[in-house]
This record gives sequence, C-alpha cells and structure tokens, in this order.
Amino acid sequence: MKSFEDTWALKAKQEGYRSRATYKLDHIDQKYDLIRNARKVVELGSAPGGWSQLIAKKKHPLTKCLAIDILPMNKVSGIEFHQLDLKSDEFIKLMQKFAPNIDVIMSDMSANLSGVKVVDEEANFEINLFSLSLAKQYLSKNGRLLIKTFNNRNLASLKKEFSSFFCRTYTEKPPASKTSSSEVYLLGLDPK
Ligand SMILES: C[S@@+](CC[C@H](N)C(=O)[O-])C[C@H]1O[C@@H](n2cnc3c(N)ncnc32)[C@H](O)[C@@H]1O
Repeated sequence: MKSFEDTWALKAKQEGYRSRATYKLDHIDQKYDLIRNARKVVELGSAPGGWSQLIAKKKHPLTKCLAIDILPMNKVSGIEFHQLDLKSDEFIKLMQKFAPNIDVIMSDMSANLSGVKVVDEEANFEINLFSLSLAKQYLSKNGRLLIKTFNNRNLASLKKEFSSFFCRTYTEKPPASKTSSSEVYLLGLDPK
C-alpha cells in the first residue's frame, strides 16, 4: 500500500506540479474561489513553485502575481518571482510598489525548525502576524488572506486577530495535508 506522502507526490509528478502543496491550495480555492476573480495576488514562500503553477493556471490573463521566496525558484510563466527575504527592506519596497488594492495575499511559509517546540511555535506565530500586518496595509476592500499555521497554543490568539480584522474567518485542513501534522490553513475574507 502506498503511503500518504507517496500518493500525493506521485499525483503531483504525474500532473506536472512541482510539489504536492498544489493540492492543498487547490482544495481551498475550489471551496472559496480565491484566484479566479483576483487581479493582484501576492504569494509568500513560493518555492519550488507548486502554488505558483496553480495560480498561473487559474488566474485571469491580466492578473498580476508576485511570488516571493528566500530560495531560488524556476520560472513559472505568468508569475513574477523575486528571490527575497520577507524581512528585507527590498521586500517592503516591492510591496509598496505593487500596492494598493492587492486582492489576495497567500502564504505557505513556516519557520525553519529549531527542534525546540516553544521556539518554533513563536517563530511561526511571528511569521503569521507578519502576513496579517501585510494584509492590514495592502489588501483591497474585498481582499483575502490565506496563511499556513499550526494547531498549537497560539492558534486561538491568531484566530482572534483574524476575526478582529476580517468579516469572515475559516480554518481549513485540506486532504493533501498530513493528518499527523498540526498544519492548518487560516483564511480571512473581507477586511472590516
Ligand atoms: C512549504 S514551502 C512552500 C511550498 C510552495 N507553496 C509550493 O507549492 O511549492 C515554504 C517556503 O517558504 C520559504 N520561506 C520561509 N521563510 C522565508 C522568508 N523569511 N522569506 C522568504 N521565503 C521564506 C521557504 O524558503 C520555503 O520555500
């Protein structure tokens, strides 16, 4: 019997996607229709490019999409990739240039694991709050923020932060996300 990991990785390989993470975004997009009507999209933590491939496939031809990663990423047609650290001044300058009225910000980022649970949880919380701060500054009136996060002691505070900024907040665990992982995706729709 194939392992969970093999099944999704094999599907990605057969369908020409660079990562099985594609199916996590696809599941959420099928439910909430994030990509089709967006005109400006920012994708944070995009390498190796599975989400970028899906965005390129589903987006309107005129939609602009910036994809950012600290690691290099092979070109995805229709996606403007920048190899940058999100904590850099260059990234902020890029966002300021791309703004205003960004329709969707999505992040599949997580912190590099140190192995110390509390340290990793805090680092991920910080990354999540950073994505939320970008949403507060740059999202359009009907904008959306999708982030990867984890079901840990910070999730309740994060949901509270989302609820105070967005009219609607949803938590998703896509089938392609391992059940053994605490990974979940948090979606905020329509800033208040
Ligand atoms: C799970 S991977 C993304 C996979 C991607 N969604 C896909 O479908 O191929 C997370 C990415 O976040 C990136 N990342 C983590 N911290 C970052 C930072 N501070 N600045 C830019 N990218 C970062 C990592 O380099 C990694 O490539």
